Amino acid sequence: MEKLISLCKRRGFIYPGSEIYGGIAGFWDYGPLGVELKKNIKDLWWNRFVSSREDVYGVDAAIIMNPKVWEASGHVSNFTDPLVECKKCKKRFRADHLETGACPDCEGDLGEVKQFNMMFKTMVGAVEKEGAGAYLRPETAQGIFSNFKNVLDSFSPKLPFGIAQIGKAFRNEIAPRDFIFRSREFEQMEIEYFVKGEDWQTHFDNWRDGMWSYMEDLGLNKEKIYERELQEEELAHYSEKTIDFEFDFPFGREELYGLAYRTDFDLKNHSKDSGVDLVYREQGEEPFAPHVIEPTFGVDRTVLALLSDAYREDSGEDGQGEGRVWLALKPKVAPYKVAVFPLMRNKPELVDKARNIYKEIKKYIPNTLWDDNGNVGKRYRRQDEIGTPYCVTVDFDTLEDKAVTVRDRDSMEQERVKLDELQNYLMSKLNG
Ligand code: GAP
Repeated sequence: MEKLISLCKRRGFIYPGSEIYGGIAGFWDYGPLGVELKKNIKDLWWNRFVSSREDVYGVDAAIIMNPKVWEASGHVSNFTDPLVECKKCKKRFRADHLETGACPDCEGDLGEVKQFNMMFKTMVGAVEKEGAGAYLRPETAQGIFSNFKNVLDSFSPKLPFGIAQIGKAFRNEIAPRDFIFRSREFEQMEIEYFVKGEDWQTHFDNWRDGMWSYMEDLGLNKEKIYERELQEEELAHYSEKTIDFEFDFPFGREELYGLAYRTDFDLKNHSKDSGVDLVYREQGEEPFAPHVIEPTFGVDRTVLALLSDAYREDSGEDGQGEGRVWLALKPKVAPYKVAVFPLMRNKPELVDKARNIYKEIKKYIPNTLWDDNGNVGKRYRRQDEIGTPYCVTVDFDTLEDKAVTVRDRDSMEQERVKLDELQNYLMSKLNG
């Protein structure tokens, strides 16, 4: 894990938040490669679950909502973690994560366990008066429920249908830990899928399959993923049944995604508190609040699962006398797909040719990178470390034989490919 964190920082995937001021616990910044990786994860999700379907609508709701939302949703009274403070060193811990009854830092006595609400509070407007308090949303789901009627009014969808959202969520975690696994600001991808109460099990099972297909599409190692049904005492306040998809992270098996049956809990509570009927009308039937199946995905945990699973090291059997580190990411999630090098950077005719080839490839593969720093061996190492699947080297022979050398990240095999076949070659490799 230390090696991965260091690679992420060094190569521009993920940096500690506010680093020049010493950082701030639980907040991370994504660098140029991290944003590309995250974008690929989100695009695959959106294409699969929204764009390619007829029954799912996307929204992008405001992060700050009327605070009454969080009363109706149950978050004001229930969204808590048990907090305990050491009487001696005053450090605070999550009581349910402690293995012993004493302080893990100084072995001092622990105080009483208190419930700590994890929502971040803020003020809206210039005056700090009563009623101006608000929260940063702890889940994107409520921005969906509060727009249920809007989407119904605009599009008149028939049940079953879903509303999807990707966006930031904030939780004042007592103990943020394990890099981006548990942070205080993170991103979620959620769908609230509205169904008739009697059909919930069928849709639950369909979404379970859908979640597996998405994980496969990302290239996550299936052997590291486990389903775990939550016990009654573990269920969130809104859920009647939840399956966690757990992943073997470097620090142990932990929750990656969740699939919950939220019943009609949210729509009913929002109807009651807002006075607006959040119901579905069907001819010949009494209006009713649909039930909800909720597949939920953490973007940052997806990033961590992908990176930790893709991290590879070898001891130098490649004959270059030193170990090699590479990220075996599937091409569709890799930040860059292709890197183009001129064999030497001080030969103008070679550089010109290579630049032209680079520009040509970039037309059909936008995430193509130019690299002319150091020697070719060093460039391969750099591209391996950021998971670039193919490197194209332009050498002096290229000027004669109109061909380039294409090197494969995982096998390190090199092939000579004719320029007029390069597009087909790269596209079929990347899509294959
Ligand atoms: N709307 C349901 C919901 O929010 P959750 O299990 O509390 O359910 C959903 O969160 C997903 O969000 C988790 O499966 C995880 O991927 C991600 N997540 C939750 N807390 C997180 C945190 N502190 N840091 C990073 N990701 C988190």
